[in-house]
Parts: sequence; C-alpha cells; structure tokens
Amino acid sequence: MKAQQIKEILVLPSDGREITINGWVRTKRESKNVCFLEVSDGSSINNIQVVVDLSNKSLADQIERITTGASIKACGFLVASQGSEQAVELAAKEIYMYGASPADEYPLQKKRHSFEFLREIAHLRARTNTFGAIARVRSSMSFAIHSFFQERGFVYVHTPIITGSDCEGAGQMFQVTTLPIETPPTKDGTIDYFEDFFGKKASLTVSGQLEGETYATALSRIYTFGPTFRAENSNTSRHLAEFWMVEPEVAFCDIQGDMDLAEEFLKYIFTWLLDRCPDDMNFFNTRIDKEIIATLTRIIKSRFERITYTKAISLLEKSGQCFEFPVAWGSDLQSEHERYITEKIFKKPVIITDYPKEIKAFYMKLNADGRTVRAMDVLVPRLGEIIGGSEREADYEKLKGRMIELNLNPNDYWWYLDLRRFGTVPHAGFGLGFERLIQFVTGMQNIRDVIPYPRCVKTLEF
Ligand code: 4AD
Ligand code: MG
Repeated sequence: MKAQQIKEILVLPSDGREITINGWVRTKRESKNVCFLEVSDGSSINNIQVVVDLSNKSLADQIERITTGASIKACGFLVASQGSEQAVELAAKEIYMYGASPADEYPLQKKRHSFEFLREIAHLRARTNTFGAIARVRSSMSFAIHSFFQERGFVYVHTPIITGSDCEGAGQMFQVTTLPIETPPTKDGTIDYFEDFFGKKASLTVSGQLEGETYATALSRIYTFGPTFRAENSNTSRHLAEFWMVEPEVAFCDIQGDMDLAEEFLKYIFTWLLDRCPDDMNFFNTRIDKEIIATLTRIIKSRFERITYTKAISLLEKSGQCFEFPVAWGSDLQSEHERYITEKIFKKPVIITDYPKEIKAFYMKLNADGRTVRAMDVLVPRLGEIIGGSEREADYEKLKGRMIELNLNPNDYWWYLDLRRFGTVPHAGFGLGFERLIQFVTGMQNIRDVIPYPRCVKTLEF
C-alpha cells in the first residue's frame, strides 16, 4: 500500500481506514501490553502516534529492535486516539524497520538539546522539531517571495555567482582562482591574473544588484534570489559568510516607490507565513518567542515609520541612552542604535533614508545637498537592519565621479556605466537578507540556526 504523508493523515477522520506511513521514530514508550511510537516524516511539526499491541508476537519481535531514530514503515488502521495529545492514531497491523539506530550512539536521545550542541551535528539537526520547522518555513517563505514578485509582473533573473566586480565596493570578497596559492605566477612583482582561469581576478558575488540593474533597464521590473558571499570578519548572531539575498530592481522608480515596495513585500510574506504555516508558527510562538505571532500580526497592520538619518541621529542624541558606540552624524548606525530606534522609540519597523554618502555604496543617488544619498534601510525590532536599498545614481558623470572619489576604477565598471549612457532612467531596488528574514519571523536568536549549513569565520565542518 502506498504511504501517505503524516500531515495529510492527521486531518483525516478516525474511521478505521487502512493507512501506511514511513518515518523516523522520535520516541518510544512501552507498557506491559502496548508500545507507543511517535513517528515523524518531517511533513509537519506534528508526529503520528503508532500504537502497537505487544500481545501480537510478530509485532512485539519487531518492536524490540526499534529505538529512537530508527526508520520504519507502519501499516494499520486510523482510529480515534485515547490520548489527549492527538485526535487520531495508527493502530499497527504490520511494522517494518528500514534501518536501526543504536541507542548508545544516536545523539538525539533527549527531548531538548542546546542549539550550540545541535550546530555540531548539523547533519542530524533537521530531525528535531525546531530545525524541521525552520526548513519548512524557509521553503514556504521562498515560495512567498516568488509569488509576491511574480504576481506583480517581475521577471526572475539569475545573476552570476562568480563575478569580476565588487558590487558594494567594500572589498569583502572571496577570491575564486585556479592559480597555485603557494607559487602564483608574477609579472612586474605582482600576481599575473592573466594566467588565472578567467584571465583576470575573480570573486564570489556580494550582491546580484549590478547585473540586476542591467536587466531592470531592459525588462523594467526584475528580481534576483540567490546565494551571496561576504568575507566579513563579523562573528555576530546576524552575519553569515554565505547567505541568500532577494533583490528586486525597478526602472522608473524612485526612493519613495522603493520604500512602498519594501513595506508591501514584508507585509505580504508575513501574512503568507501566518496563513500557510500555522502549526510551525504556533511551535515557534510556544517554544522560541512568545510574542512572535503577535509581533508579526501587529506589523502587518502597522504603517512603517519613515525618517531620515539626520532625524534618527538627533533622536538618538536626545534619548539620553548610553550606547557602547558613540552617536555622531557621519558615522554608521550600529546594531544597538538601530534596535533602539525600532524597539524603544517607534516600537515598529522603521525605514531610515538619506544617509551620509561616506558610509554608503558608490551607486546610490546623490541628494541635492551633496552630502547625503538616497539610501533606505528597513529596521525591525530585535534585529536592526533587515533590508538595505536605494535609488540608484542615474547620471553618468555623477556616478563616475563617485567611483573616482572612492578609488574604484571606472574602467572596471564600464558596462555598468553604459546603463547611464544609453537610455538612463530613474531606478531603485533593495536587498533582503533571507536568513535575517527567517530569523525575524521565527524568533530564533542566532542566524547560524536558520540556514542548514552555516558558513562563518572559522566554521566549515559540513
Ligand atoms: O545592505 P546590503 O549590503 O545591500 C546590498 O547588498 C545591496 N546591493 C542590495 C540592493 O540594493 N540590491 O545587504 C542587503 C541585506 C542586508 O540588509 C541584510 O539583511 C543582508 O543583506 N546581509 C546579510 N545577511 C547575513 N549575513 C551577512 N553578512 C549580511 N550582509 C548583509
Ligand atoms: Mg546594508
């Protein structure tokens, strides 16, 4: 008989119909005549309870070898459960064990392990409630993101992962090379990249934006959604060296339109999550953050606050709050400042615009004051920055001037500058860190726990 997913079975009536399930044993409880197996197939946060009558000799023999972690098939009848935890349970007729799981070696015996411990066994942690739920939420949120943009006529563009240009101009790139690192070929005393695979220096991308802009200035509305890489030496709970980024880019759009899009986007995907993943969200609300559902519900109904960087600095200065990093016009907002603004001052998401040009990337549109740029960062409680975006500099001379000021070589960006030579248009976009999003919506504290295999400074076991 064909096996069904446990999530489908749990909503069926207890009419004694015959069913088959496949899964892994989470727990086993035995009394004199009966054994209860909690079985998960990962289709839902909820397990099915398999009840085994131990007076049946062949079943009893099977059960003896089955311990936590074993993989089994169970066939039987769907009946009303005697217990209060679940409506239905499976009264077993036959049980087959695919693979045993030695009790003295399988590390997931306890009901609850610390997240630090589970990071050391990342290859098994998807078998826990929390990591199973995170995997399902990631999957559903990816779908939500595509759905939001596809419904609005955006074209999904696959920007490259290996690139010859530094999008953020911050030099935090991982190099990609086939040159022998001990003895690279040199010419005039420096490494001769002409000998390298691509004939020039290459890196892993930090953002798909620049290539995204080339498509936005042809297709009007595009988005990218792919892996990005940053060799930042930041050992924090919100930084990864490899993470996924969603980047819409819109032609004929200014910073106001960009902010509207970001706000509508976040509200859409939060609504989607509460509608489509109620069981997983109830789990996070019970076990991880008791406020998470209330927080998301409130945000969906709220209007995001929009203030300038200059205003933000003045509010921080007036707050009387003592910060680890000093507050001063011209220096970047630290995560403690961002959190103070969204958690304490406004108690909701805040979009900060018009940052000093010195602390933002070369491609942002310069304001008339000559000091600030049309950047916009979306800050949320608990996390600080979740989205970073801007209106782009559409003027050829100004853009080239910014590159030179920042010691970037305009010749390396000739194709990017071409967009301003041929039919330039106002355009804008933003980047959402997918893992920051998942962290935010699940209430998880550490970004390393919302991606299957985190890559961070000095961390690469799997
Ligand atoms: O603010 P960032 O650096 O913006 C860009 O890369 C632009 N090119 C985006 C654009 O306009 N198309 O990064 C965007 C977002 C951040 O707001 C943050 O959520 C996330 O990416 N992010 C990281 N997430 C995890 N680990 C890191 N090291 C991250 N760095 C940025
Ligand atoms: Mg940023």
